[in-house]
Amino acid sequence: MQWTSVAAVALLAHSAAAQNMLRFACSQLVVDRVDPLVDPGVVYTPHLHQIVGGNSFNITMDPATHDLPGLSTCTSCTFKEDTSNYWTAVMFFKAKNGTYIRVPQTGNGGPQGQLVNKGGLDVYYIPSGKVTAFKPGFRMLAGSAANEDPKKVQSGSICHRCWTSTNDNNFVGGAPCTGSDTVEIPSDPKCKMIRQTIIFPTCWDGKNLDSPDHKSHVSYSGQGANGGGTCPSAFPVKIPQIMYEVMWDVSNFADKSLWPTDGTSPYIYSMDVGGAAAHGDYIFGWKGDSLQQAMDKNCNLNKDCPAAGLHAQDPSVYGACNVKQQAPEKVDGWLAALPLGTPAMKA
Ligand SMILES: *[C@@H]1O[C@H](CO)[C@@H](O)[C@H](O)[C@H]1NC(C)=O
Ligand SMILES: *[C@@H]1O[C@H](CO)[C@@H](O)[C@H](O)[C@H]1NC(C)=O
Repeated sequence: MQWTSVAAVALLAHSAAAQNMLRFACSQLVVDRVDPLVDPGVVYTPHLHQIVGGNSFNITMDPATHDLPGLSTCTSCTFKEDTSNYWTAVMFFKAKNGTYIRVPQTGNGGPQGQLVNKGGLDVYYIPSGKVTAFKPGFRMLAGSAANEDPKKVQSGSICHRCWTSTNDNNFVGGAPCTGSDTVEIPSDPKCKMIRQTIIFPTCWDGKNLDSPDHKSHVSYSGQGANGGGTCPSAFPVKIPQIMYEVMWDVSNFADKSLWPTDGTSPYIYSMDVGGAAAHGDYIFGWKGDSLQQAMDKNCNLNKDCPAAGLHAQDPSVYGACNVKQQAPEKVDGWLAALPLGTPAMKA
C-alpha cells in the first residue's frame, strides 16, 4: 500500500505535517438482508449486505435512542471502543449454468501491515488538518444501490482495482481510485482479487445527523484518499474521511470456461447490478469522545493508542463477534437465485 506516500504529499498541501490515520480490520458480523439506515424496520430488505462492527446492529436503530456503545457487548472491528456499524453489498460470482456463489472477502496487507479479517472489510479514518468527530446518531451513505450509470458515480472516490496476485503484499498501483481503477467491477481472468474502495464525504453541514437521502447533510471536497480539501461554506465542518476497502477474493473463479457465455460479467453485486451501484453505509458508534481523541492524538494504523484510550483487540477476539442472520435463507454455497427480496415488509 504505497499510496500512503501519495496521501502524505496531498496532506502536506493542507497542513504543516503529514498526519497519521486509523487503518484497521473488521470481521464479518453477519451477512443479512437488513438495513437500518436506508430501510429501517424493513423485514427483509431488498438486497443482501455484509455488515461489520458493534453487535447492537439490528433492523431498527433509531438515531435518537439507539446507543451503539451502550447496547453493544462486542465489536467485530479492531478497536474495542468502536461499536459503529459499517456495511456494503456483497459480491456474487455467476456461473454459466445460471447459479450464484458469494465471493469470499479477506483482509488487506501491504507495507503498512497485514490486516486480519474473517470476512468483512477494512476501515480507514483519514484526518486532514483539525477534524471534528461525528456525533452520536450520525449516519451517512456513499454511492447509490440503484445506480446503473457509471458516469453518475463519484469515480475518484468509489472504484475497483484488479489485483493479479492473491498476495496482498504484492501491491501494484497508485493511490485509491486513480490510474487504471474502474467504476465497473473488473472482469478479467487475470484478476485474483478485486479491491473495492468506497470513500465517504469529508464535510458536514454541522447541524443534521442524517438527511432523507442520507447524503445531503455531507459533501465531498475533492477526490481520493487524502482526507479531503477545503470545505464548501454550506458544509463548514471538516470530518474524518472514512474509507472502506473490501478485498474480494476471486481466485477460485479465474477459469473462464465457467463464465457466462453471453459476454456478461460473472461478477455482480447483491442488487443484481454491477460496479456503478457500489455503495457503503455508516452509522457512527464510537464510545464517548474516543474518535475525537484518536484524531487529535494522531493515533496511527491498528495499534493500541494509550493517549486516546484506544485498545486494539486480537483478531481472535473481534473475529468472534457475530450476530445471528435474521432472514431465513441460505447465503453461502451455490444458490439457484440471488437472495433478493420479494415484497419487502415493514415490521
Ligand atoms: C432486534 O430487534 C428486535 C425487534 O425490535 C428485538 O426483539 C431484538 O431483541 C433485537 N435484537 C438485538 C440483538 O438487539
Ligand atoms: C453450476 O456450475 C458450478 C461451477 O461449475 C458448479 O459447481 C455447480 O455444481 C453447478 N450447479 C448446477 C446446478 O449445475
